[in-house]
This record gives sequence, C-alpha cells and structure tokens, in this order.
Amino acid sequence: MDLQLSGRVAVVTGASKGIGLAVTRTLLSEGARVVAASRKVSPELEALGGDLVHVPADLMDPEAPARIVDRAVAEFGGLDILVNNAGGPPPGVALPRFSFLAPTDEDWRMMFEFNLFSVVRAVRAAVTPMLARGGGSIVNVSSGSARLPAPMNVDYNAAKAGLNNLTKALSEEFGPQGIRVNTVSPGPVRTAWWTESGGAADIIAAQAGTDRDSVIERVAPEMMSLTTGRLVEPQEVADVVALLASPRSAATTGADFVVDAGFLKQV
Ligand SMILES: NC(=O)c1ccc[n+]([C@@H]2O[C@H](COP(=O)([O-])OP(=O)(O)OC[C@H]3O[C@@H](n4cnc5c(N)ncnc54)[C@H](OP(=O)(O)O)[C@@H]3O)[C@@H](O)[C@H]2O)c1
Repeated sequence: MDLQLSGRVAVVTGASKGIGLAVTRTLLSEGARVVAASRKVSPELEALGGDLVHVPADLMDPEAPARIVDRAVAEFGGLDILVNNAGGPPPGVALPRFSFLAPTDEDWRMMFEFNLFSVVRAVRAAVTPMLARGGGSIVNVSSGSARLPAPMNVDYNAAKAGLNNLTKALSEEFGPQGIRVNTVSPGPVRTAWWTESGGAADIIAAQAGTDRDSVIERVAPEMMSLTTGRLVEPQEVADVVALLASPRSAATTGADFVVDAGFLKQV
C-alpha cells in the first residue's frame, strides 16, 4: 500500500530512541521529510540520513515545541504531520511508582508538563501551518494505561487520560478544516524505558526478586496479562502511527488505536 507520504513534512518528538526513532525511520522510508526532536541526537538517528533534520530541544521548556515546529516550516516550507511521541517518565524520574502516595506535587507537575502540556504547546504551534496547507494529521502517542486506571503510575495514567480527552476535542474542532487528530496507545514496548539500567524492568525485578531479562521476557507479560505473551516492538507502534499520518486514513479522526499485545480487555 502506498501511504502517499512522499514529500510530506513531519515533526516527530522523542525521535532519538524507541518508538520515536522507529516512527522517524518509517516516515523517512515512505519518502517524508522529517524534523526530529530530542534533547540529544543518537547514533541510530544520525545513521538514518535522508531528508532529516535534528532539532535539539527539551520539551520541559515551554518555548521548545513552537521552536521545533518553526524549524520544520523554515527548513521544509510547511507542516503536514505532527507526531507527539515524547512522553513517559520526565527527565530524572524512573517509573513505575507503586502507589498514589509516592509522587509529590512537583512530580505531578513534571509529569503533566512532559506528557500533556508539551503536546498542548506543539499542537498550538502546528495548527496555523497545517491549516495553511489545507489540513494535516496529528498523532499523539498515549498509553493503554490512559484507559486502565491503576495504583501504579497514577500521575502518568492521568496525564495520558488527559491526552486522550484533548485529542478527541481537537479532532472535533479542527476536523472540519482538514486536520485529523488521533491517539496511538501502546501497551508495554521494548524500549529504553524498560530495558535500560535502572529502568522499569530493573525496578520490577527488585520488587519481584528476579532479574531484568526475566521481567522483560516473562514477569511483565504475565503481570500485565498480555495476550500475545510478549512486549510490543517499537516498529509495531510506528507502523500504526505511519498509517494514521497518511492520507489513506482520511476518514479516521478522534480515534484511539491500541497496539498493546492484548493488554486492554474491555470491549
Ligand atoms: N515504552 C513503553 O512501554 C510505552 C508504553 C506506553 C506508552 N508509551 C509512550 O510512548 C512514547 C515513547 O516512549 P518510548 O518508550 O519510545 O521512550 P524512550 O525509548 O525512553 O525514548 C524517549 C525519547 O524521548 C526523548 N526525550 C526524553 N526526554 C525528553 C525531553 N525532556 N525533551 C525532549 N525529548 C525528550 C528521548 O531523547 P533524549 O533523551 O535525547 O531527549 C527519546 O528520544 C511516550 O509517549 C510513552 O509514554 C511507551
């Protein structure tokens, strides 16, 4: 299937690793021109080549989202696609936390800055250039946890639930003018968040009295009742993001696509 992405201009946040890197690689391979934002460039991102510009940006800075969007317009003449992928634990934070009593006011503030307010600011900056092109596609990377409240990571889940609500509201306001807005909600994905030293797998391993690899291969899939029996791969999320970014999804807006290995059980 031709996704008709050739020549389209995309911004991807959190593009140096994990899901964002896979999205960037996929959009480039479909012929899109990509402005990739993260605090640091990674060797994997640098190796991609093609019509790719890296913008160093810390999304905890309220000015950063507009700067990233402005760069896309300056570099490539407009904007068609915005993938708000950066999110998860804010800088310096390790998840999971196991109780509502764990995060402080400051933790809550940082969680919402990173996972919700940075998206608000990016969308605000993106709407005008997208309307100038007659429309566009915004894909917000949320989480299955937005729909499954739990004692673990309450602040993260609430921020992502807000993101789902925001997405639907944006789709209503801007759909008539050609901007589609959707969420992709992954289950646990095999990225640095899980695999790095001190990451989620190590924290759960310490709690469960096991090791990182056992958590990734067995404990986490069991704990989260993953129907497929394994974590999601970043490319499996990226493929759905690319489809939603594409005009082939022209009738899809305000939707939440789960890519969650069967994590969510409700109809
Ligand atoms: N992995 C999962 O299990 C999972 C599950 C559900 C939903 N998600 C969602 O999927 C999205 C991507 O997660 P991931 O697991 O792929 O993340 P990841 O592998 O940890 O990568 C995070 C990306 O965000 C960038 N980043 C981190 N802090 C930043 C900041 N302050 N400003 C700008 N960029 C920043 C990182 O680059 P720098 O460090 O260089 O800035 C990196 O490119 C997030 O929205 C997350 O909530 C993930």
